[in-house]
Amino acid sequence: MKGRVVNFNPGPATLPLSVLEKAQKELTNYGGEGLSILEMSHRSKTFDSILNEAIEDIKKVMGITDNYTVLFLQGGATAQFAAVPLNLAQKGKPALYINTGSWSKKAISEAKKLSIEYQVIASSDQDNFNHIPRNFNIDNNASYLHITSNNTIFGTQWQSYPESKEVPLVADMSSDFYCRRFDSRLFGLIYAGAQKNVGPAGVTIVIIRNDLLDRSPENIPTILNYKTFAEKNSLYNTPNCFGIYIVSLVMKWILDTGGIDKVEKINQQKAKLLYDTIDSSNYYRPTAKSDSRSIMNITFRLPSEDLEKQFISEANAAGLVGLKGHRSVGGIRASIYNAMPLDGVEKLMDHMKKFQKSNG
Ligand SMILES: Cc1ncc(COP(=O)(O)O)c(C=O)c1O
Repeated sequence: MKGRVVNFNPGPATLPLSVLEKAQKELTNYGGEGLSILEMSHRSKTFDSILNEAIEDIKKVMGITDNYTVLFLQGGATAQFAAVPLNLAQKGKPALYINTGSWSKKAISEAKKLSIEYQVIASSDQDNFNHIPRNFNIDNNASYLHITSNNTIFGTQWQSYPESKEVPLVADMSSDFYCRRFDSRLFGLIYAGAQKNVGPAGVTIVIIRNDLLDRSPENIPTILNYKTFAEKNSLYNTPNCFGIYIVSLVMKWILDTGGIDKVEKINQQKAKLLYDTIDSSNYYRPTAKSDSRSIMNITFRLPSEDLEKQFISEANAAGLVGLKGHRSVGGIRASIYNAMPLDGVEKLMDHMKKFQKSNG
């Protein structure tokens, strides 16, 4: 049997081994109750305390204040592309979008389908999404401003968030959720699929400022209505109980690691190692501009596609998996989420140096 590999998959992605081991230990008989969380009622006292602890820990890790509500939803970040305009768009007030890549485009296309008033106020499309746009005007009369905080496919990330003042800032944080400290007061709504930084696929986390809950119209599908889920503490229907439990374990892992600032510091360190290796190589070519680089998804090219294939296959043989760039752009992508250990990144650096030596 294969041992555990160094997992650079973009999502579902690597999880802390200690979290997996704890879940394994508790799998068949949770807390001595004689049954698994997989088998337990979502209306049981036990699950209720798992759910509430997960919510409390999400707030505690980032210092999210009580005027925000944490929701656990399903349908992935993709469902949020529709839920955001359905809940937050207001008549006569355009929804603003900044287009920084494929996921932004998908969010925009849902707004279009729903026939809400929207404007794309900036885009880096003409530069193959190699940077985050800096120049744009935010209409004070807008319903909201939507950004994708980290562009998983193009390897770019907002270094600081736009100050949108009265206009609620909505961020798809799927691929950099809880990888660094942020000030929740800048945001009206944050959403993220859990499967990159904080848990398994099938759990979507929404953090919404409470005053925005009053915007949800009655005539939208209930499954996408934030207000309903807030009123029912995410228990309108059966949630992904096991997934929420894993998110709760990951939050505890962040706290045990030393908190979000410590996790951020390690993430910065890991990203710097790889970018320094790329920049000093004269061989590997970064795809993102240096002022927009992601600390989560490091994307780069080799001199030819054949060499990229060889790089990936030799990496696989050395136990480094998931390095293939997204099928729409090619190249190499190292996803180094929170649970990627520093020595995993060091192994990749070694591979890069050896590969260049033999093929450069
Ligand atoms: C930034 C971003 N947004 C949205 C999605 C889509 O997420 P889901 O598959 O959970 O719907 C992804 C998936 O990789 C993503 O990286």
